[in-house]
Amino acid sequence: MKASFAKRVEDLRKQLEHHEYQYYVLDRPEISDAEYDRLMRELRDLEEAHPDLCSPDSPTQRVGGQPREGFIKVPHSSPMLSLDNALNEQELREFDGRVRALLKSEKFQYVAELKLDGLSMAAYYAGGTFQQALTRGDGRVGEDVTGNARTIRSLPLRVKTQTGLEKEFEVRGEVVMPRRSFERLNEERERTGLSRFANPRNAGAGALRALDPSVTAGRQLDYFSYFLLKDGRPMLPSHWASLETLSAAGFKVNPCRKRCGNLDDLLQFIREWETKRDTLPYEIDGVVAKIDSIEQQEKLGRTAKAPRWAIAFKYPARQASTTLESIEVQVGRTGTLTPVAHLKPVVVGGVTVSRATLHNEDEIARLGVEIGDTVLVERSGDVIPKIVRVIDHGAHRRRFHMPAVCPVCGGHVVREQGEAASRCVNTNCPARLRESLLHFASRGVMDIDGMGDALVDQLLSRGLVHNIADLYQLTTDQILELERMGKKSASKVIKNIDDSRSQPLARVLNGLGIPFVGERTAQILSGHFGSLDEIAAASPDSLQEANEIGPKVAESIRQFFAEERNRELIERLRAAGLRFTAPKETKKAGPLTGLTFVLTGTLPSLKREDAKERIEAGGGKVAGSVSSKTNYVVAGDEAGSKLDKARELNIAVIDEARLLDMLDSTGPGGSGPE
Ligand code: IVH
Repeated sequence: MKASFAKRVEDLRKQLEHHEYQYYVLDRPEISDAEYDRLMRELRDLEEAHPDLCSPDSPTQRVGGQPREGFIKVPHSSPMLSLDNALNEQELREFDGRVRALLKSEKFQYVAELKLDGLSMAAYYAGGTFQQALTRGDGRVGEDVTGNARTIRSLPLRVKTQTGLEKEFEVRGEVVMPRRSFERLNEERERTGLSRFANPRNAGAGALRALDPSVTAGRQLDYFSYFLLKDGRPMLPSHWASLETLSAAGFKVNPCRKRCGNLDDLLQFIREWETKRDTLPYEIDGVVAKIDSIEQQEKLGRTAKAPRWAIAFKYPARQASTTLESIEVQVGRTGTLTPVAHLKPVVVGGVTVSRATLHNEDEIARLGVEIGDTVLVERSGDVIPKIVRVIDHGAHRRRFHMPAVCPVCGGHVVREQGEAASRCVNTNCPARLRESLLHFASRGVMDIDGMGDALVDQLLSRGLVHNIADLYQLTTDQILELERMGKKSASKVIKNIDDSRSQPLARVLNGLGIPFVGERTAQILSGHFGSLDEIAAASPDSLQEANEIGPKVAESIRQFFAEERNRELIERLRAAGLRFTAPKETKKAGPLTGLTFVLTGTLPSLKREDAKERIEAGGGKVAGSVSSKTNYVVAGDEAGSKLDKARELNIAVIDEARLLDMLDSTGPGGSGPE
């Protein structure tokens, strides 16, 4: 019996490893996220029931680590050096000249790679499995970030077999935060009133050195390998061979690499990626050229700080200074007012920039920027240019104030406590309508192709739509009358609108534009409640029983559905045939199934998040406030008003020890078949 469990566990691990490799390393998923989650859940359940089958290299362990107090310092196998820079073609020619002189006219090759803007990290493997990860630290001694590194999906926990890497070896490479993860993180931080990270590198550094591995996991880092070492020295005779071997073993190796026989080839690679860098999903700041042959690398040697066999060609900073001429306020779909800087046009890395986002009042305060100042603007990737800092105060500088009324409709503007954003409260604000239509139709939401700015503006100015439900009543003839619309494109738009009726509930929910309900929250709500009507009818308390839903989001949902106008809108969308139901995610039964807990005060050993996780893993629910539906209040030190409320409602109050007892009553392994 045991053997068959062990076999299934191994089989699941192999499948999950394969799919993680396809998804995170090759970017070519073969199964849906739901199918992947199902496999992961089965494995987790089996490991929980048979703790002796647990193993640190299991895919379930990617998020399982415990928070720690600090990082242990560990010496590197050999120093992690940095690189000398070449800032222009001339400096690169000089480097090439030095190499030629030192190699005394021997033939040699360069390997050109992208210089990823991240943090270097070393990962140690033994017996083909991941053991330990160290940050660069001061180059000689790094910090042990093993638990955090384990959450990086493109770092294999086990290498593929028959790659010659079955024994001990070390990989060095770069941890990066993809631009998309970075933008998502900043949006979320803004929503929850936290300050934004300045760039993906800083956000990535924070994530890699977070004390709690679940923070690292949430930030979706990526790892690109570029060195393969044994006892601190290159394992194979050429750098190119190392990259190929790493790639074959399942590591993510940047595919944008090239062997260059001479300086001209190298320069061509550099120029090619300078123009294409915006197409990459992560930031780069240059190109690294390394001599391919390890024998030649050794001949060239190193200085105290950097090897003589490699150079970093740095792209010129895409920054420029200019004057902040004015600040315009734009209104988004949830009524958020966003200050946008109007700049004296300036060329930044080949592109003329005249606007930059300032995000919100806090960001303006952080920068200390005022109208009339000379500022440094930066363009990075395809994101909107941003102001990095103030260079000079303008002679007649003027402070910016968020307007008290909406610049579009004149409605009241409020900024709730604890929020970074100011909002126009008028739900009929035309700016909100325009943005909400665009959001509803956008890719990843209802996917109505062709419904862009131009079409939406015309529909609005002709009074053809007043809310999202009106879209479903448009006819081909109405669209045909609009400018630049042929018969073919008009019927295509109508067909796309029609097709959107079959989008799943999570997308409909996201499309409604409820403040704080984006893609992820919509998915959680859809899985937890399984129907729009249940979500609309739910109290803030029961909304909070869904994972990750806090009081602020719950209150926002309640407010949305409490409004008559929104309820009418929902009925019209229902009549239009949109999907209002979805499969409910079934929760695992456990010792606490059917019970609702409220946590209050400081518990002696469990952090609040841990207690919540344990209760949920045991099948129970955790609510934010005490109500008649609460079964137990778990009280710790300095419990506050929730405890009073529990007494008032006559609800059982228990301590942490009792909670742990309840969880233990049918603990892991106790009931599973052997
Ligand atoms: S090689 C001794 N290759 O750039 C060689 N570094 O300025 C050291 N980096 O600390 C590293 N992409 O964090 C190398 N393809 C790449 C790189 C790269 C980014 C970073 C790395 C290093 C820094 C040196």
